[in-house]
Amino acid sequence: MNERFDLVVACDLNRGIGKNNQLPWKIPQDLKYFKRITTAANEEGLFNAVIMGRKTWESIPANHRPLAGRYNVVLTRNPDYVVPEGVFRCGSIDEAFETLVQGPVDKVFIIGGAEIYNQALQHERIGLLYLTEIRHRYDCDAFFPEYKQLFQLVSSSEIEHENGVEFTFKVYKPNLLD
Ligand SMILES: NC(=O)c1ccc[n+]([C@@H]2O[C@H](COP(=O)([O-])OP(=O)(O)OC[C@H]3O[C@@H](n4cnc5c(N)ncnc54)[C@H](OP(=O)(O)O)[C@@H]3O)[C@@H](O)[C@H]2O)c1
Repeated sequence: MNERFDLVVACDLNRGIGKNNQLPWKIPQDLKYFKRITTAANEEGLFNAVIMGRKTWESIPANHRPLAGRYNVVLTRNPDYVVPEGVFRCGSIDEAFETLVQGPVDKVFIIGGAEIYNQALQHERIGLLYLTEIRHRYDCDAFFPEYKQLFQLVSSSEIEHENGVEFTFKVYKPNLLD
């Protein structure tokens, strides 16, 4: 298993990521990108894992969760929180790693939300940051933390358009990984 985790997030120009426990925008192209990045494993027989906070888990429409083809890990401090069979419930990012390392896991992705991103940015295992920059300002109540001082840009796509929204797929690596 990859000993680092990567982060995947879509945020607007204010680093907004959500409102009322939902995404503030509809960009199917970004959802497809998210699915491709988080699902594609490097070796046959291995699967990737996605780690998310309990609120993000609940924000996924019931017919789309667990996210297919990936191990789903839900972080909660509530030991009685019920998750469906096949989904892992863990009490911390470290516990999630201890659980995943026992299985045929390739890459591990942290997929939000705000509370979990905050902890992930301070974690020693932080790897790449896949950030979709949405070139617009939405009314949000959840935000991605300040990140630019921690990372350097590795690649950026052309400006993409969908539903009248412009966005760019960016990849950053942590300064510490020089
Ligand atoms: N734009 C994007 O890319 C993106 C991606 C993901 C989410 N989002 C948005 O982000 C928002 C949700 O973010 P959020 O900050 O409110 O919630 P969140 O981070 O998804 O979940 C917070 C919950 O995670 C659990 N938790 C947090 N730290 C933990 C730890 N160290 N150990 C164990 N459990 C822990 C707690 O669950 P308990 O209360 O059960 O203990 C906490 O209430 C939504 O609007 C969602 O749509 C956006």
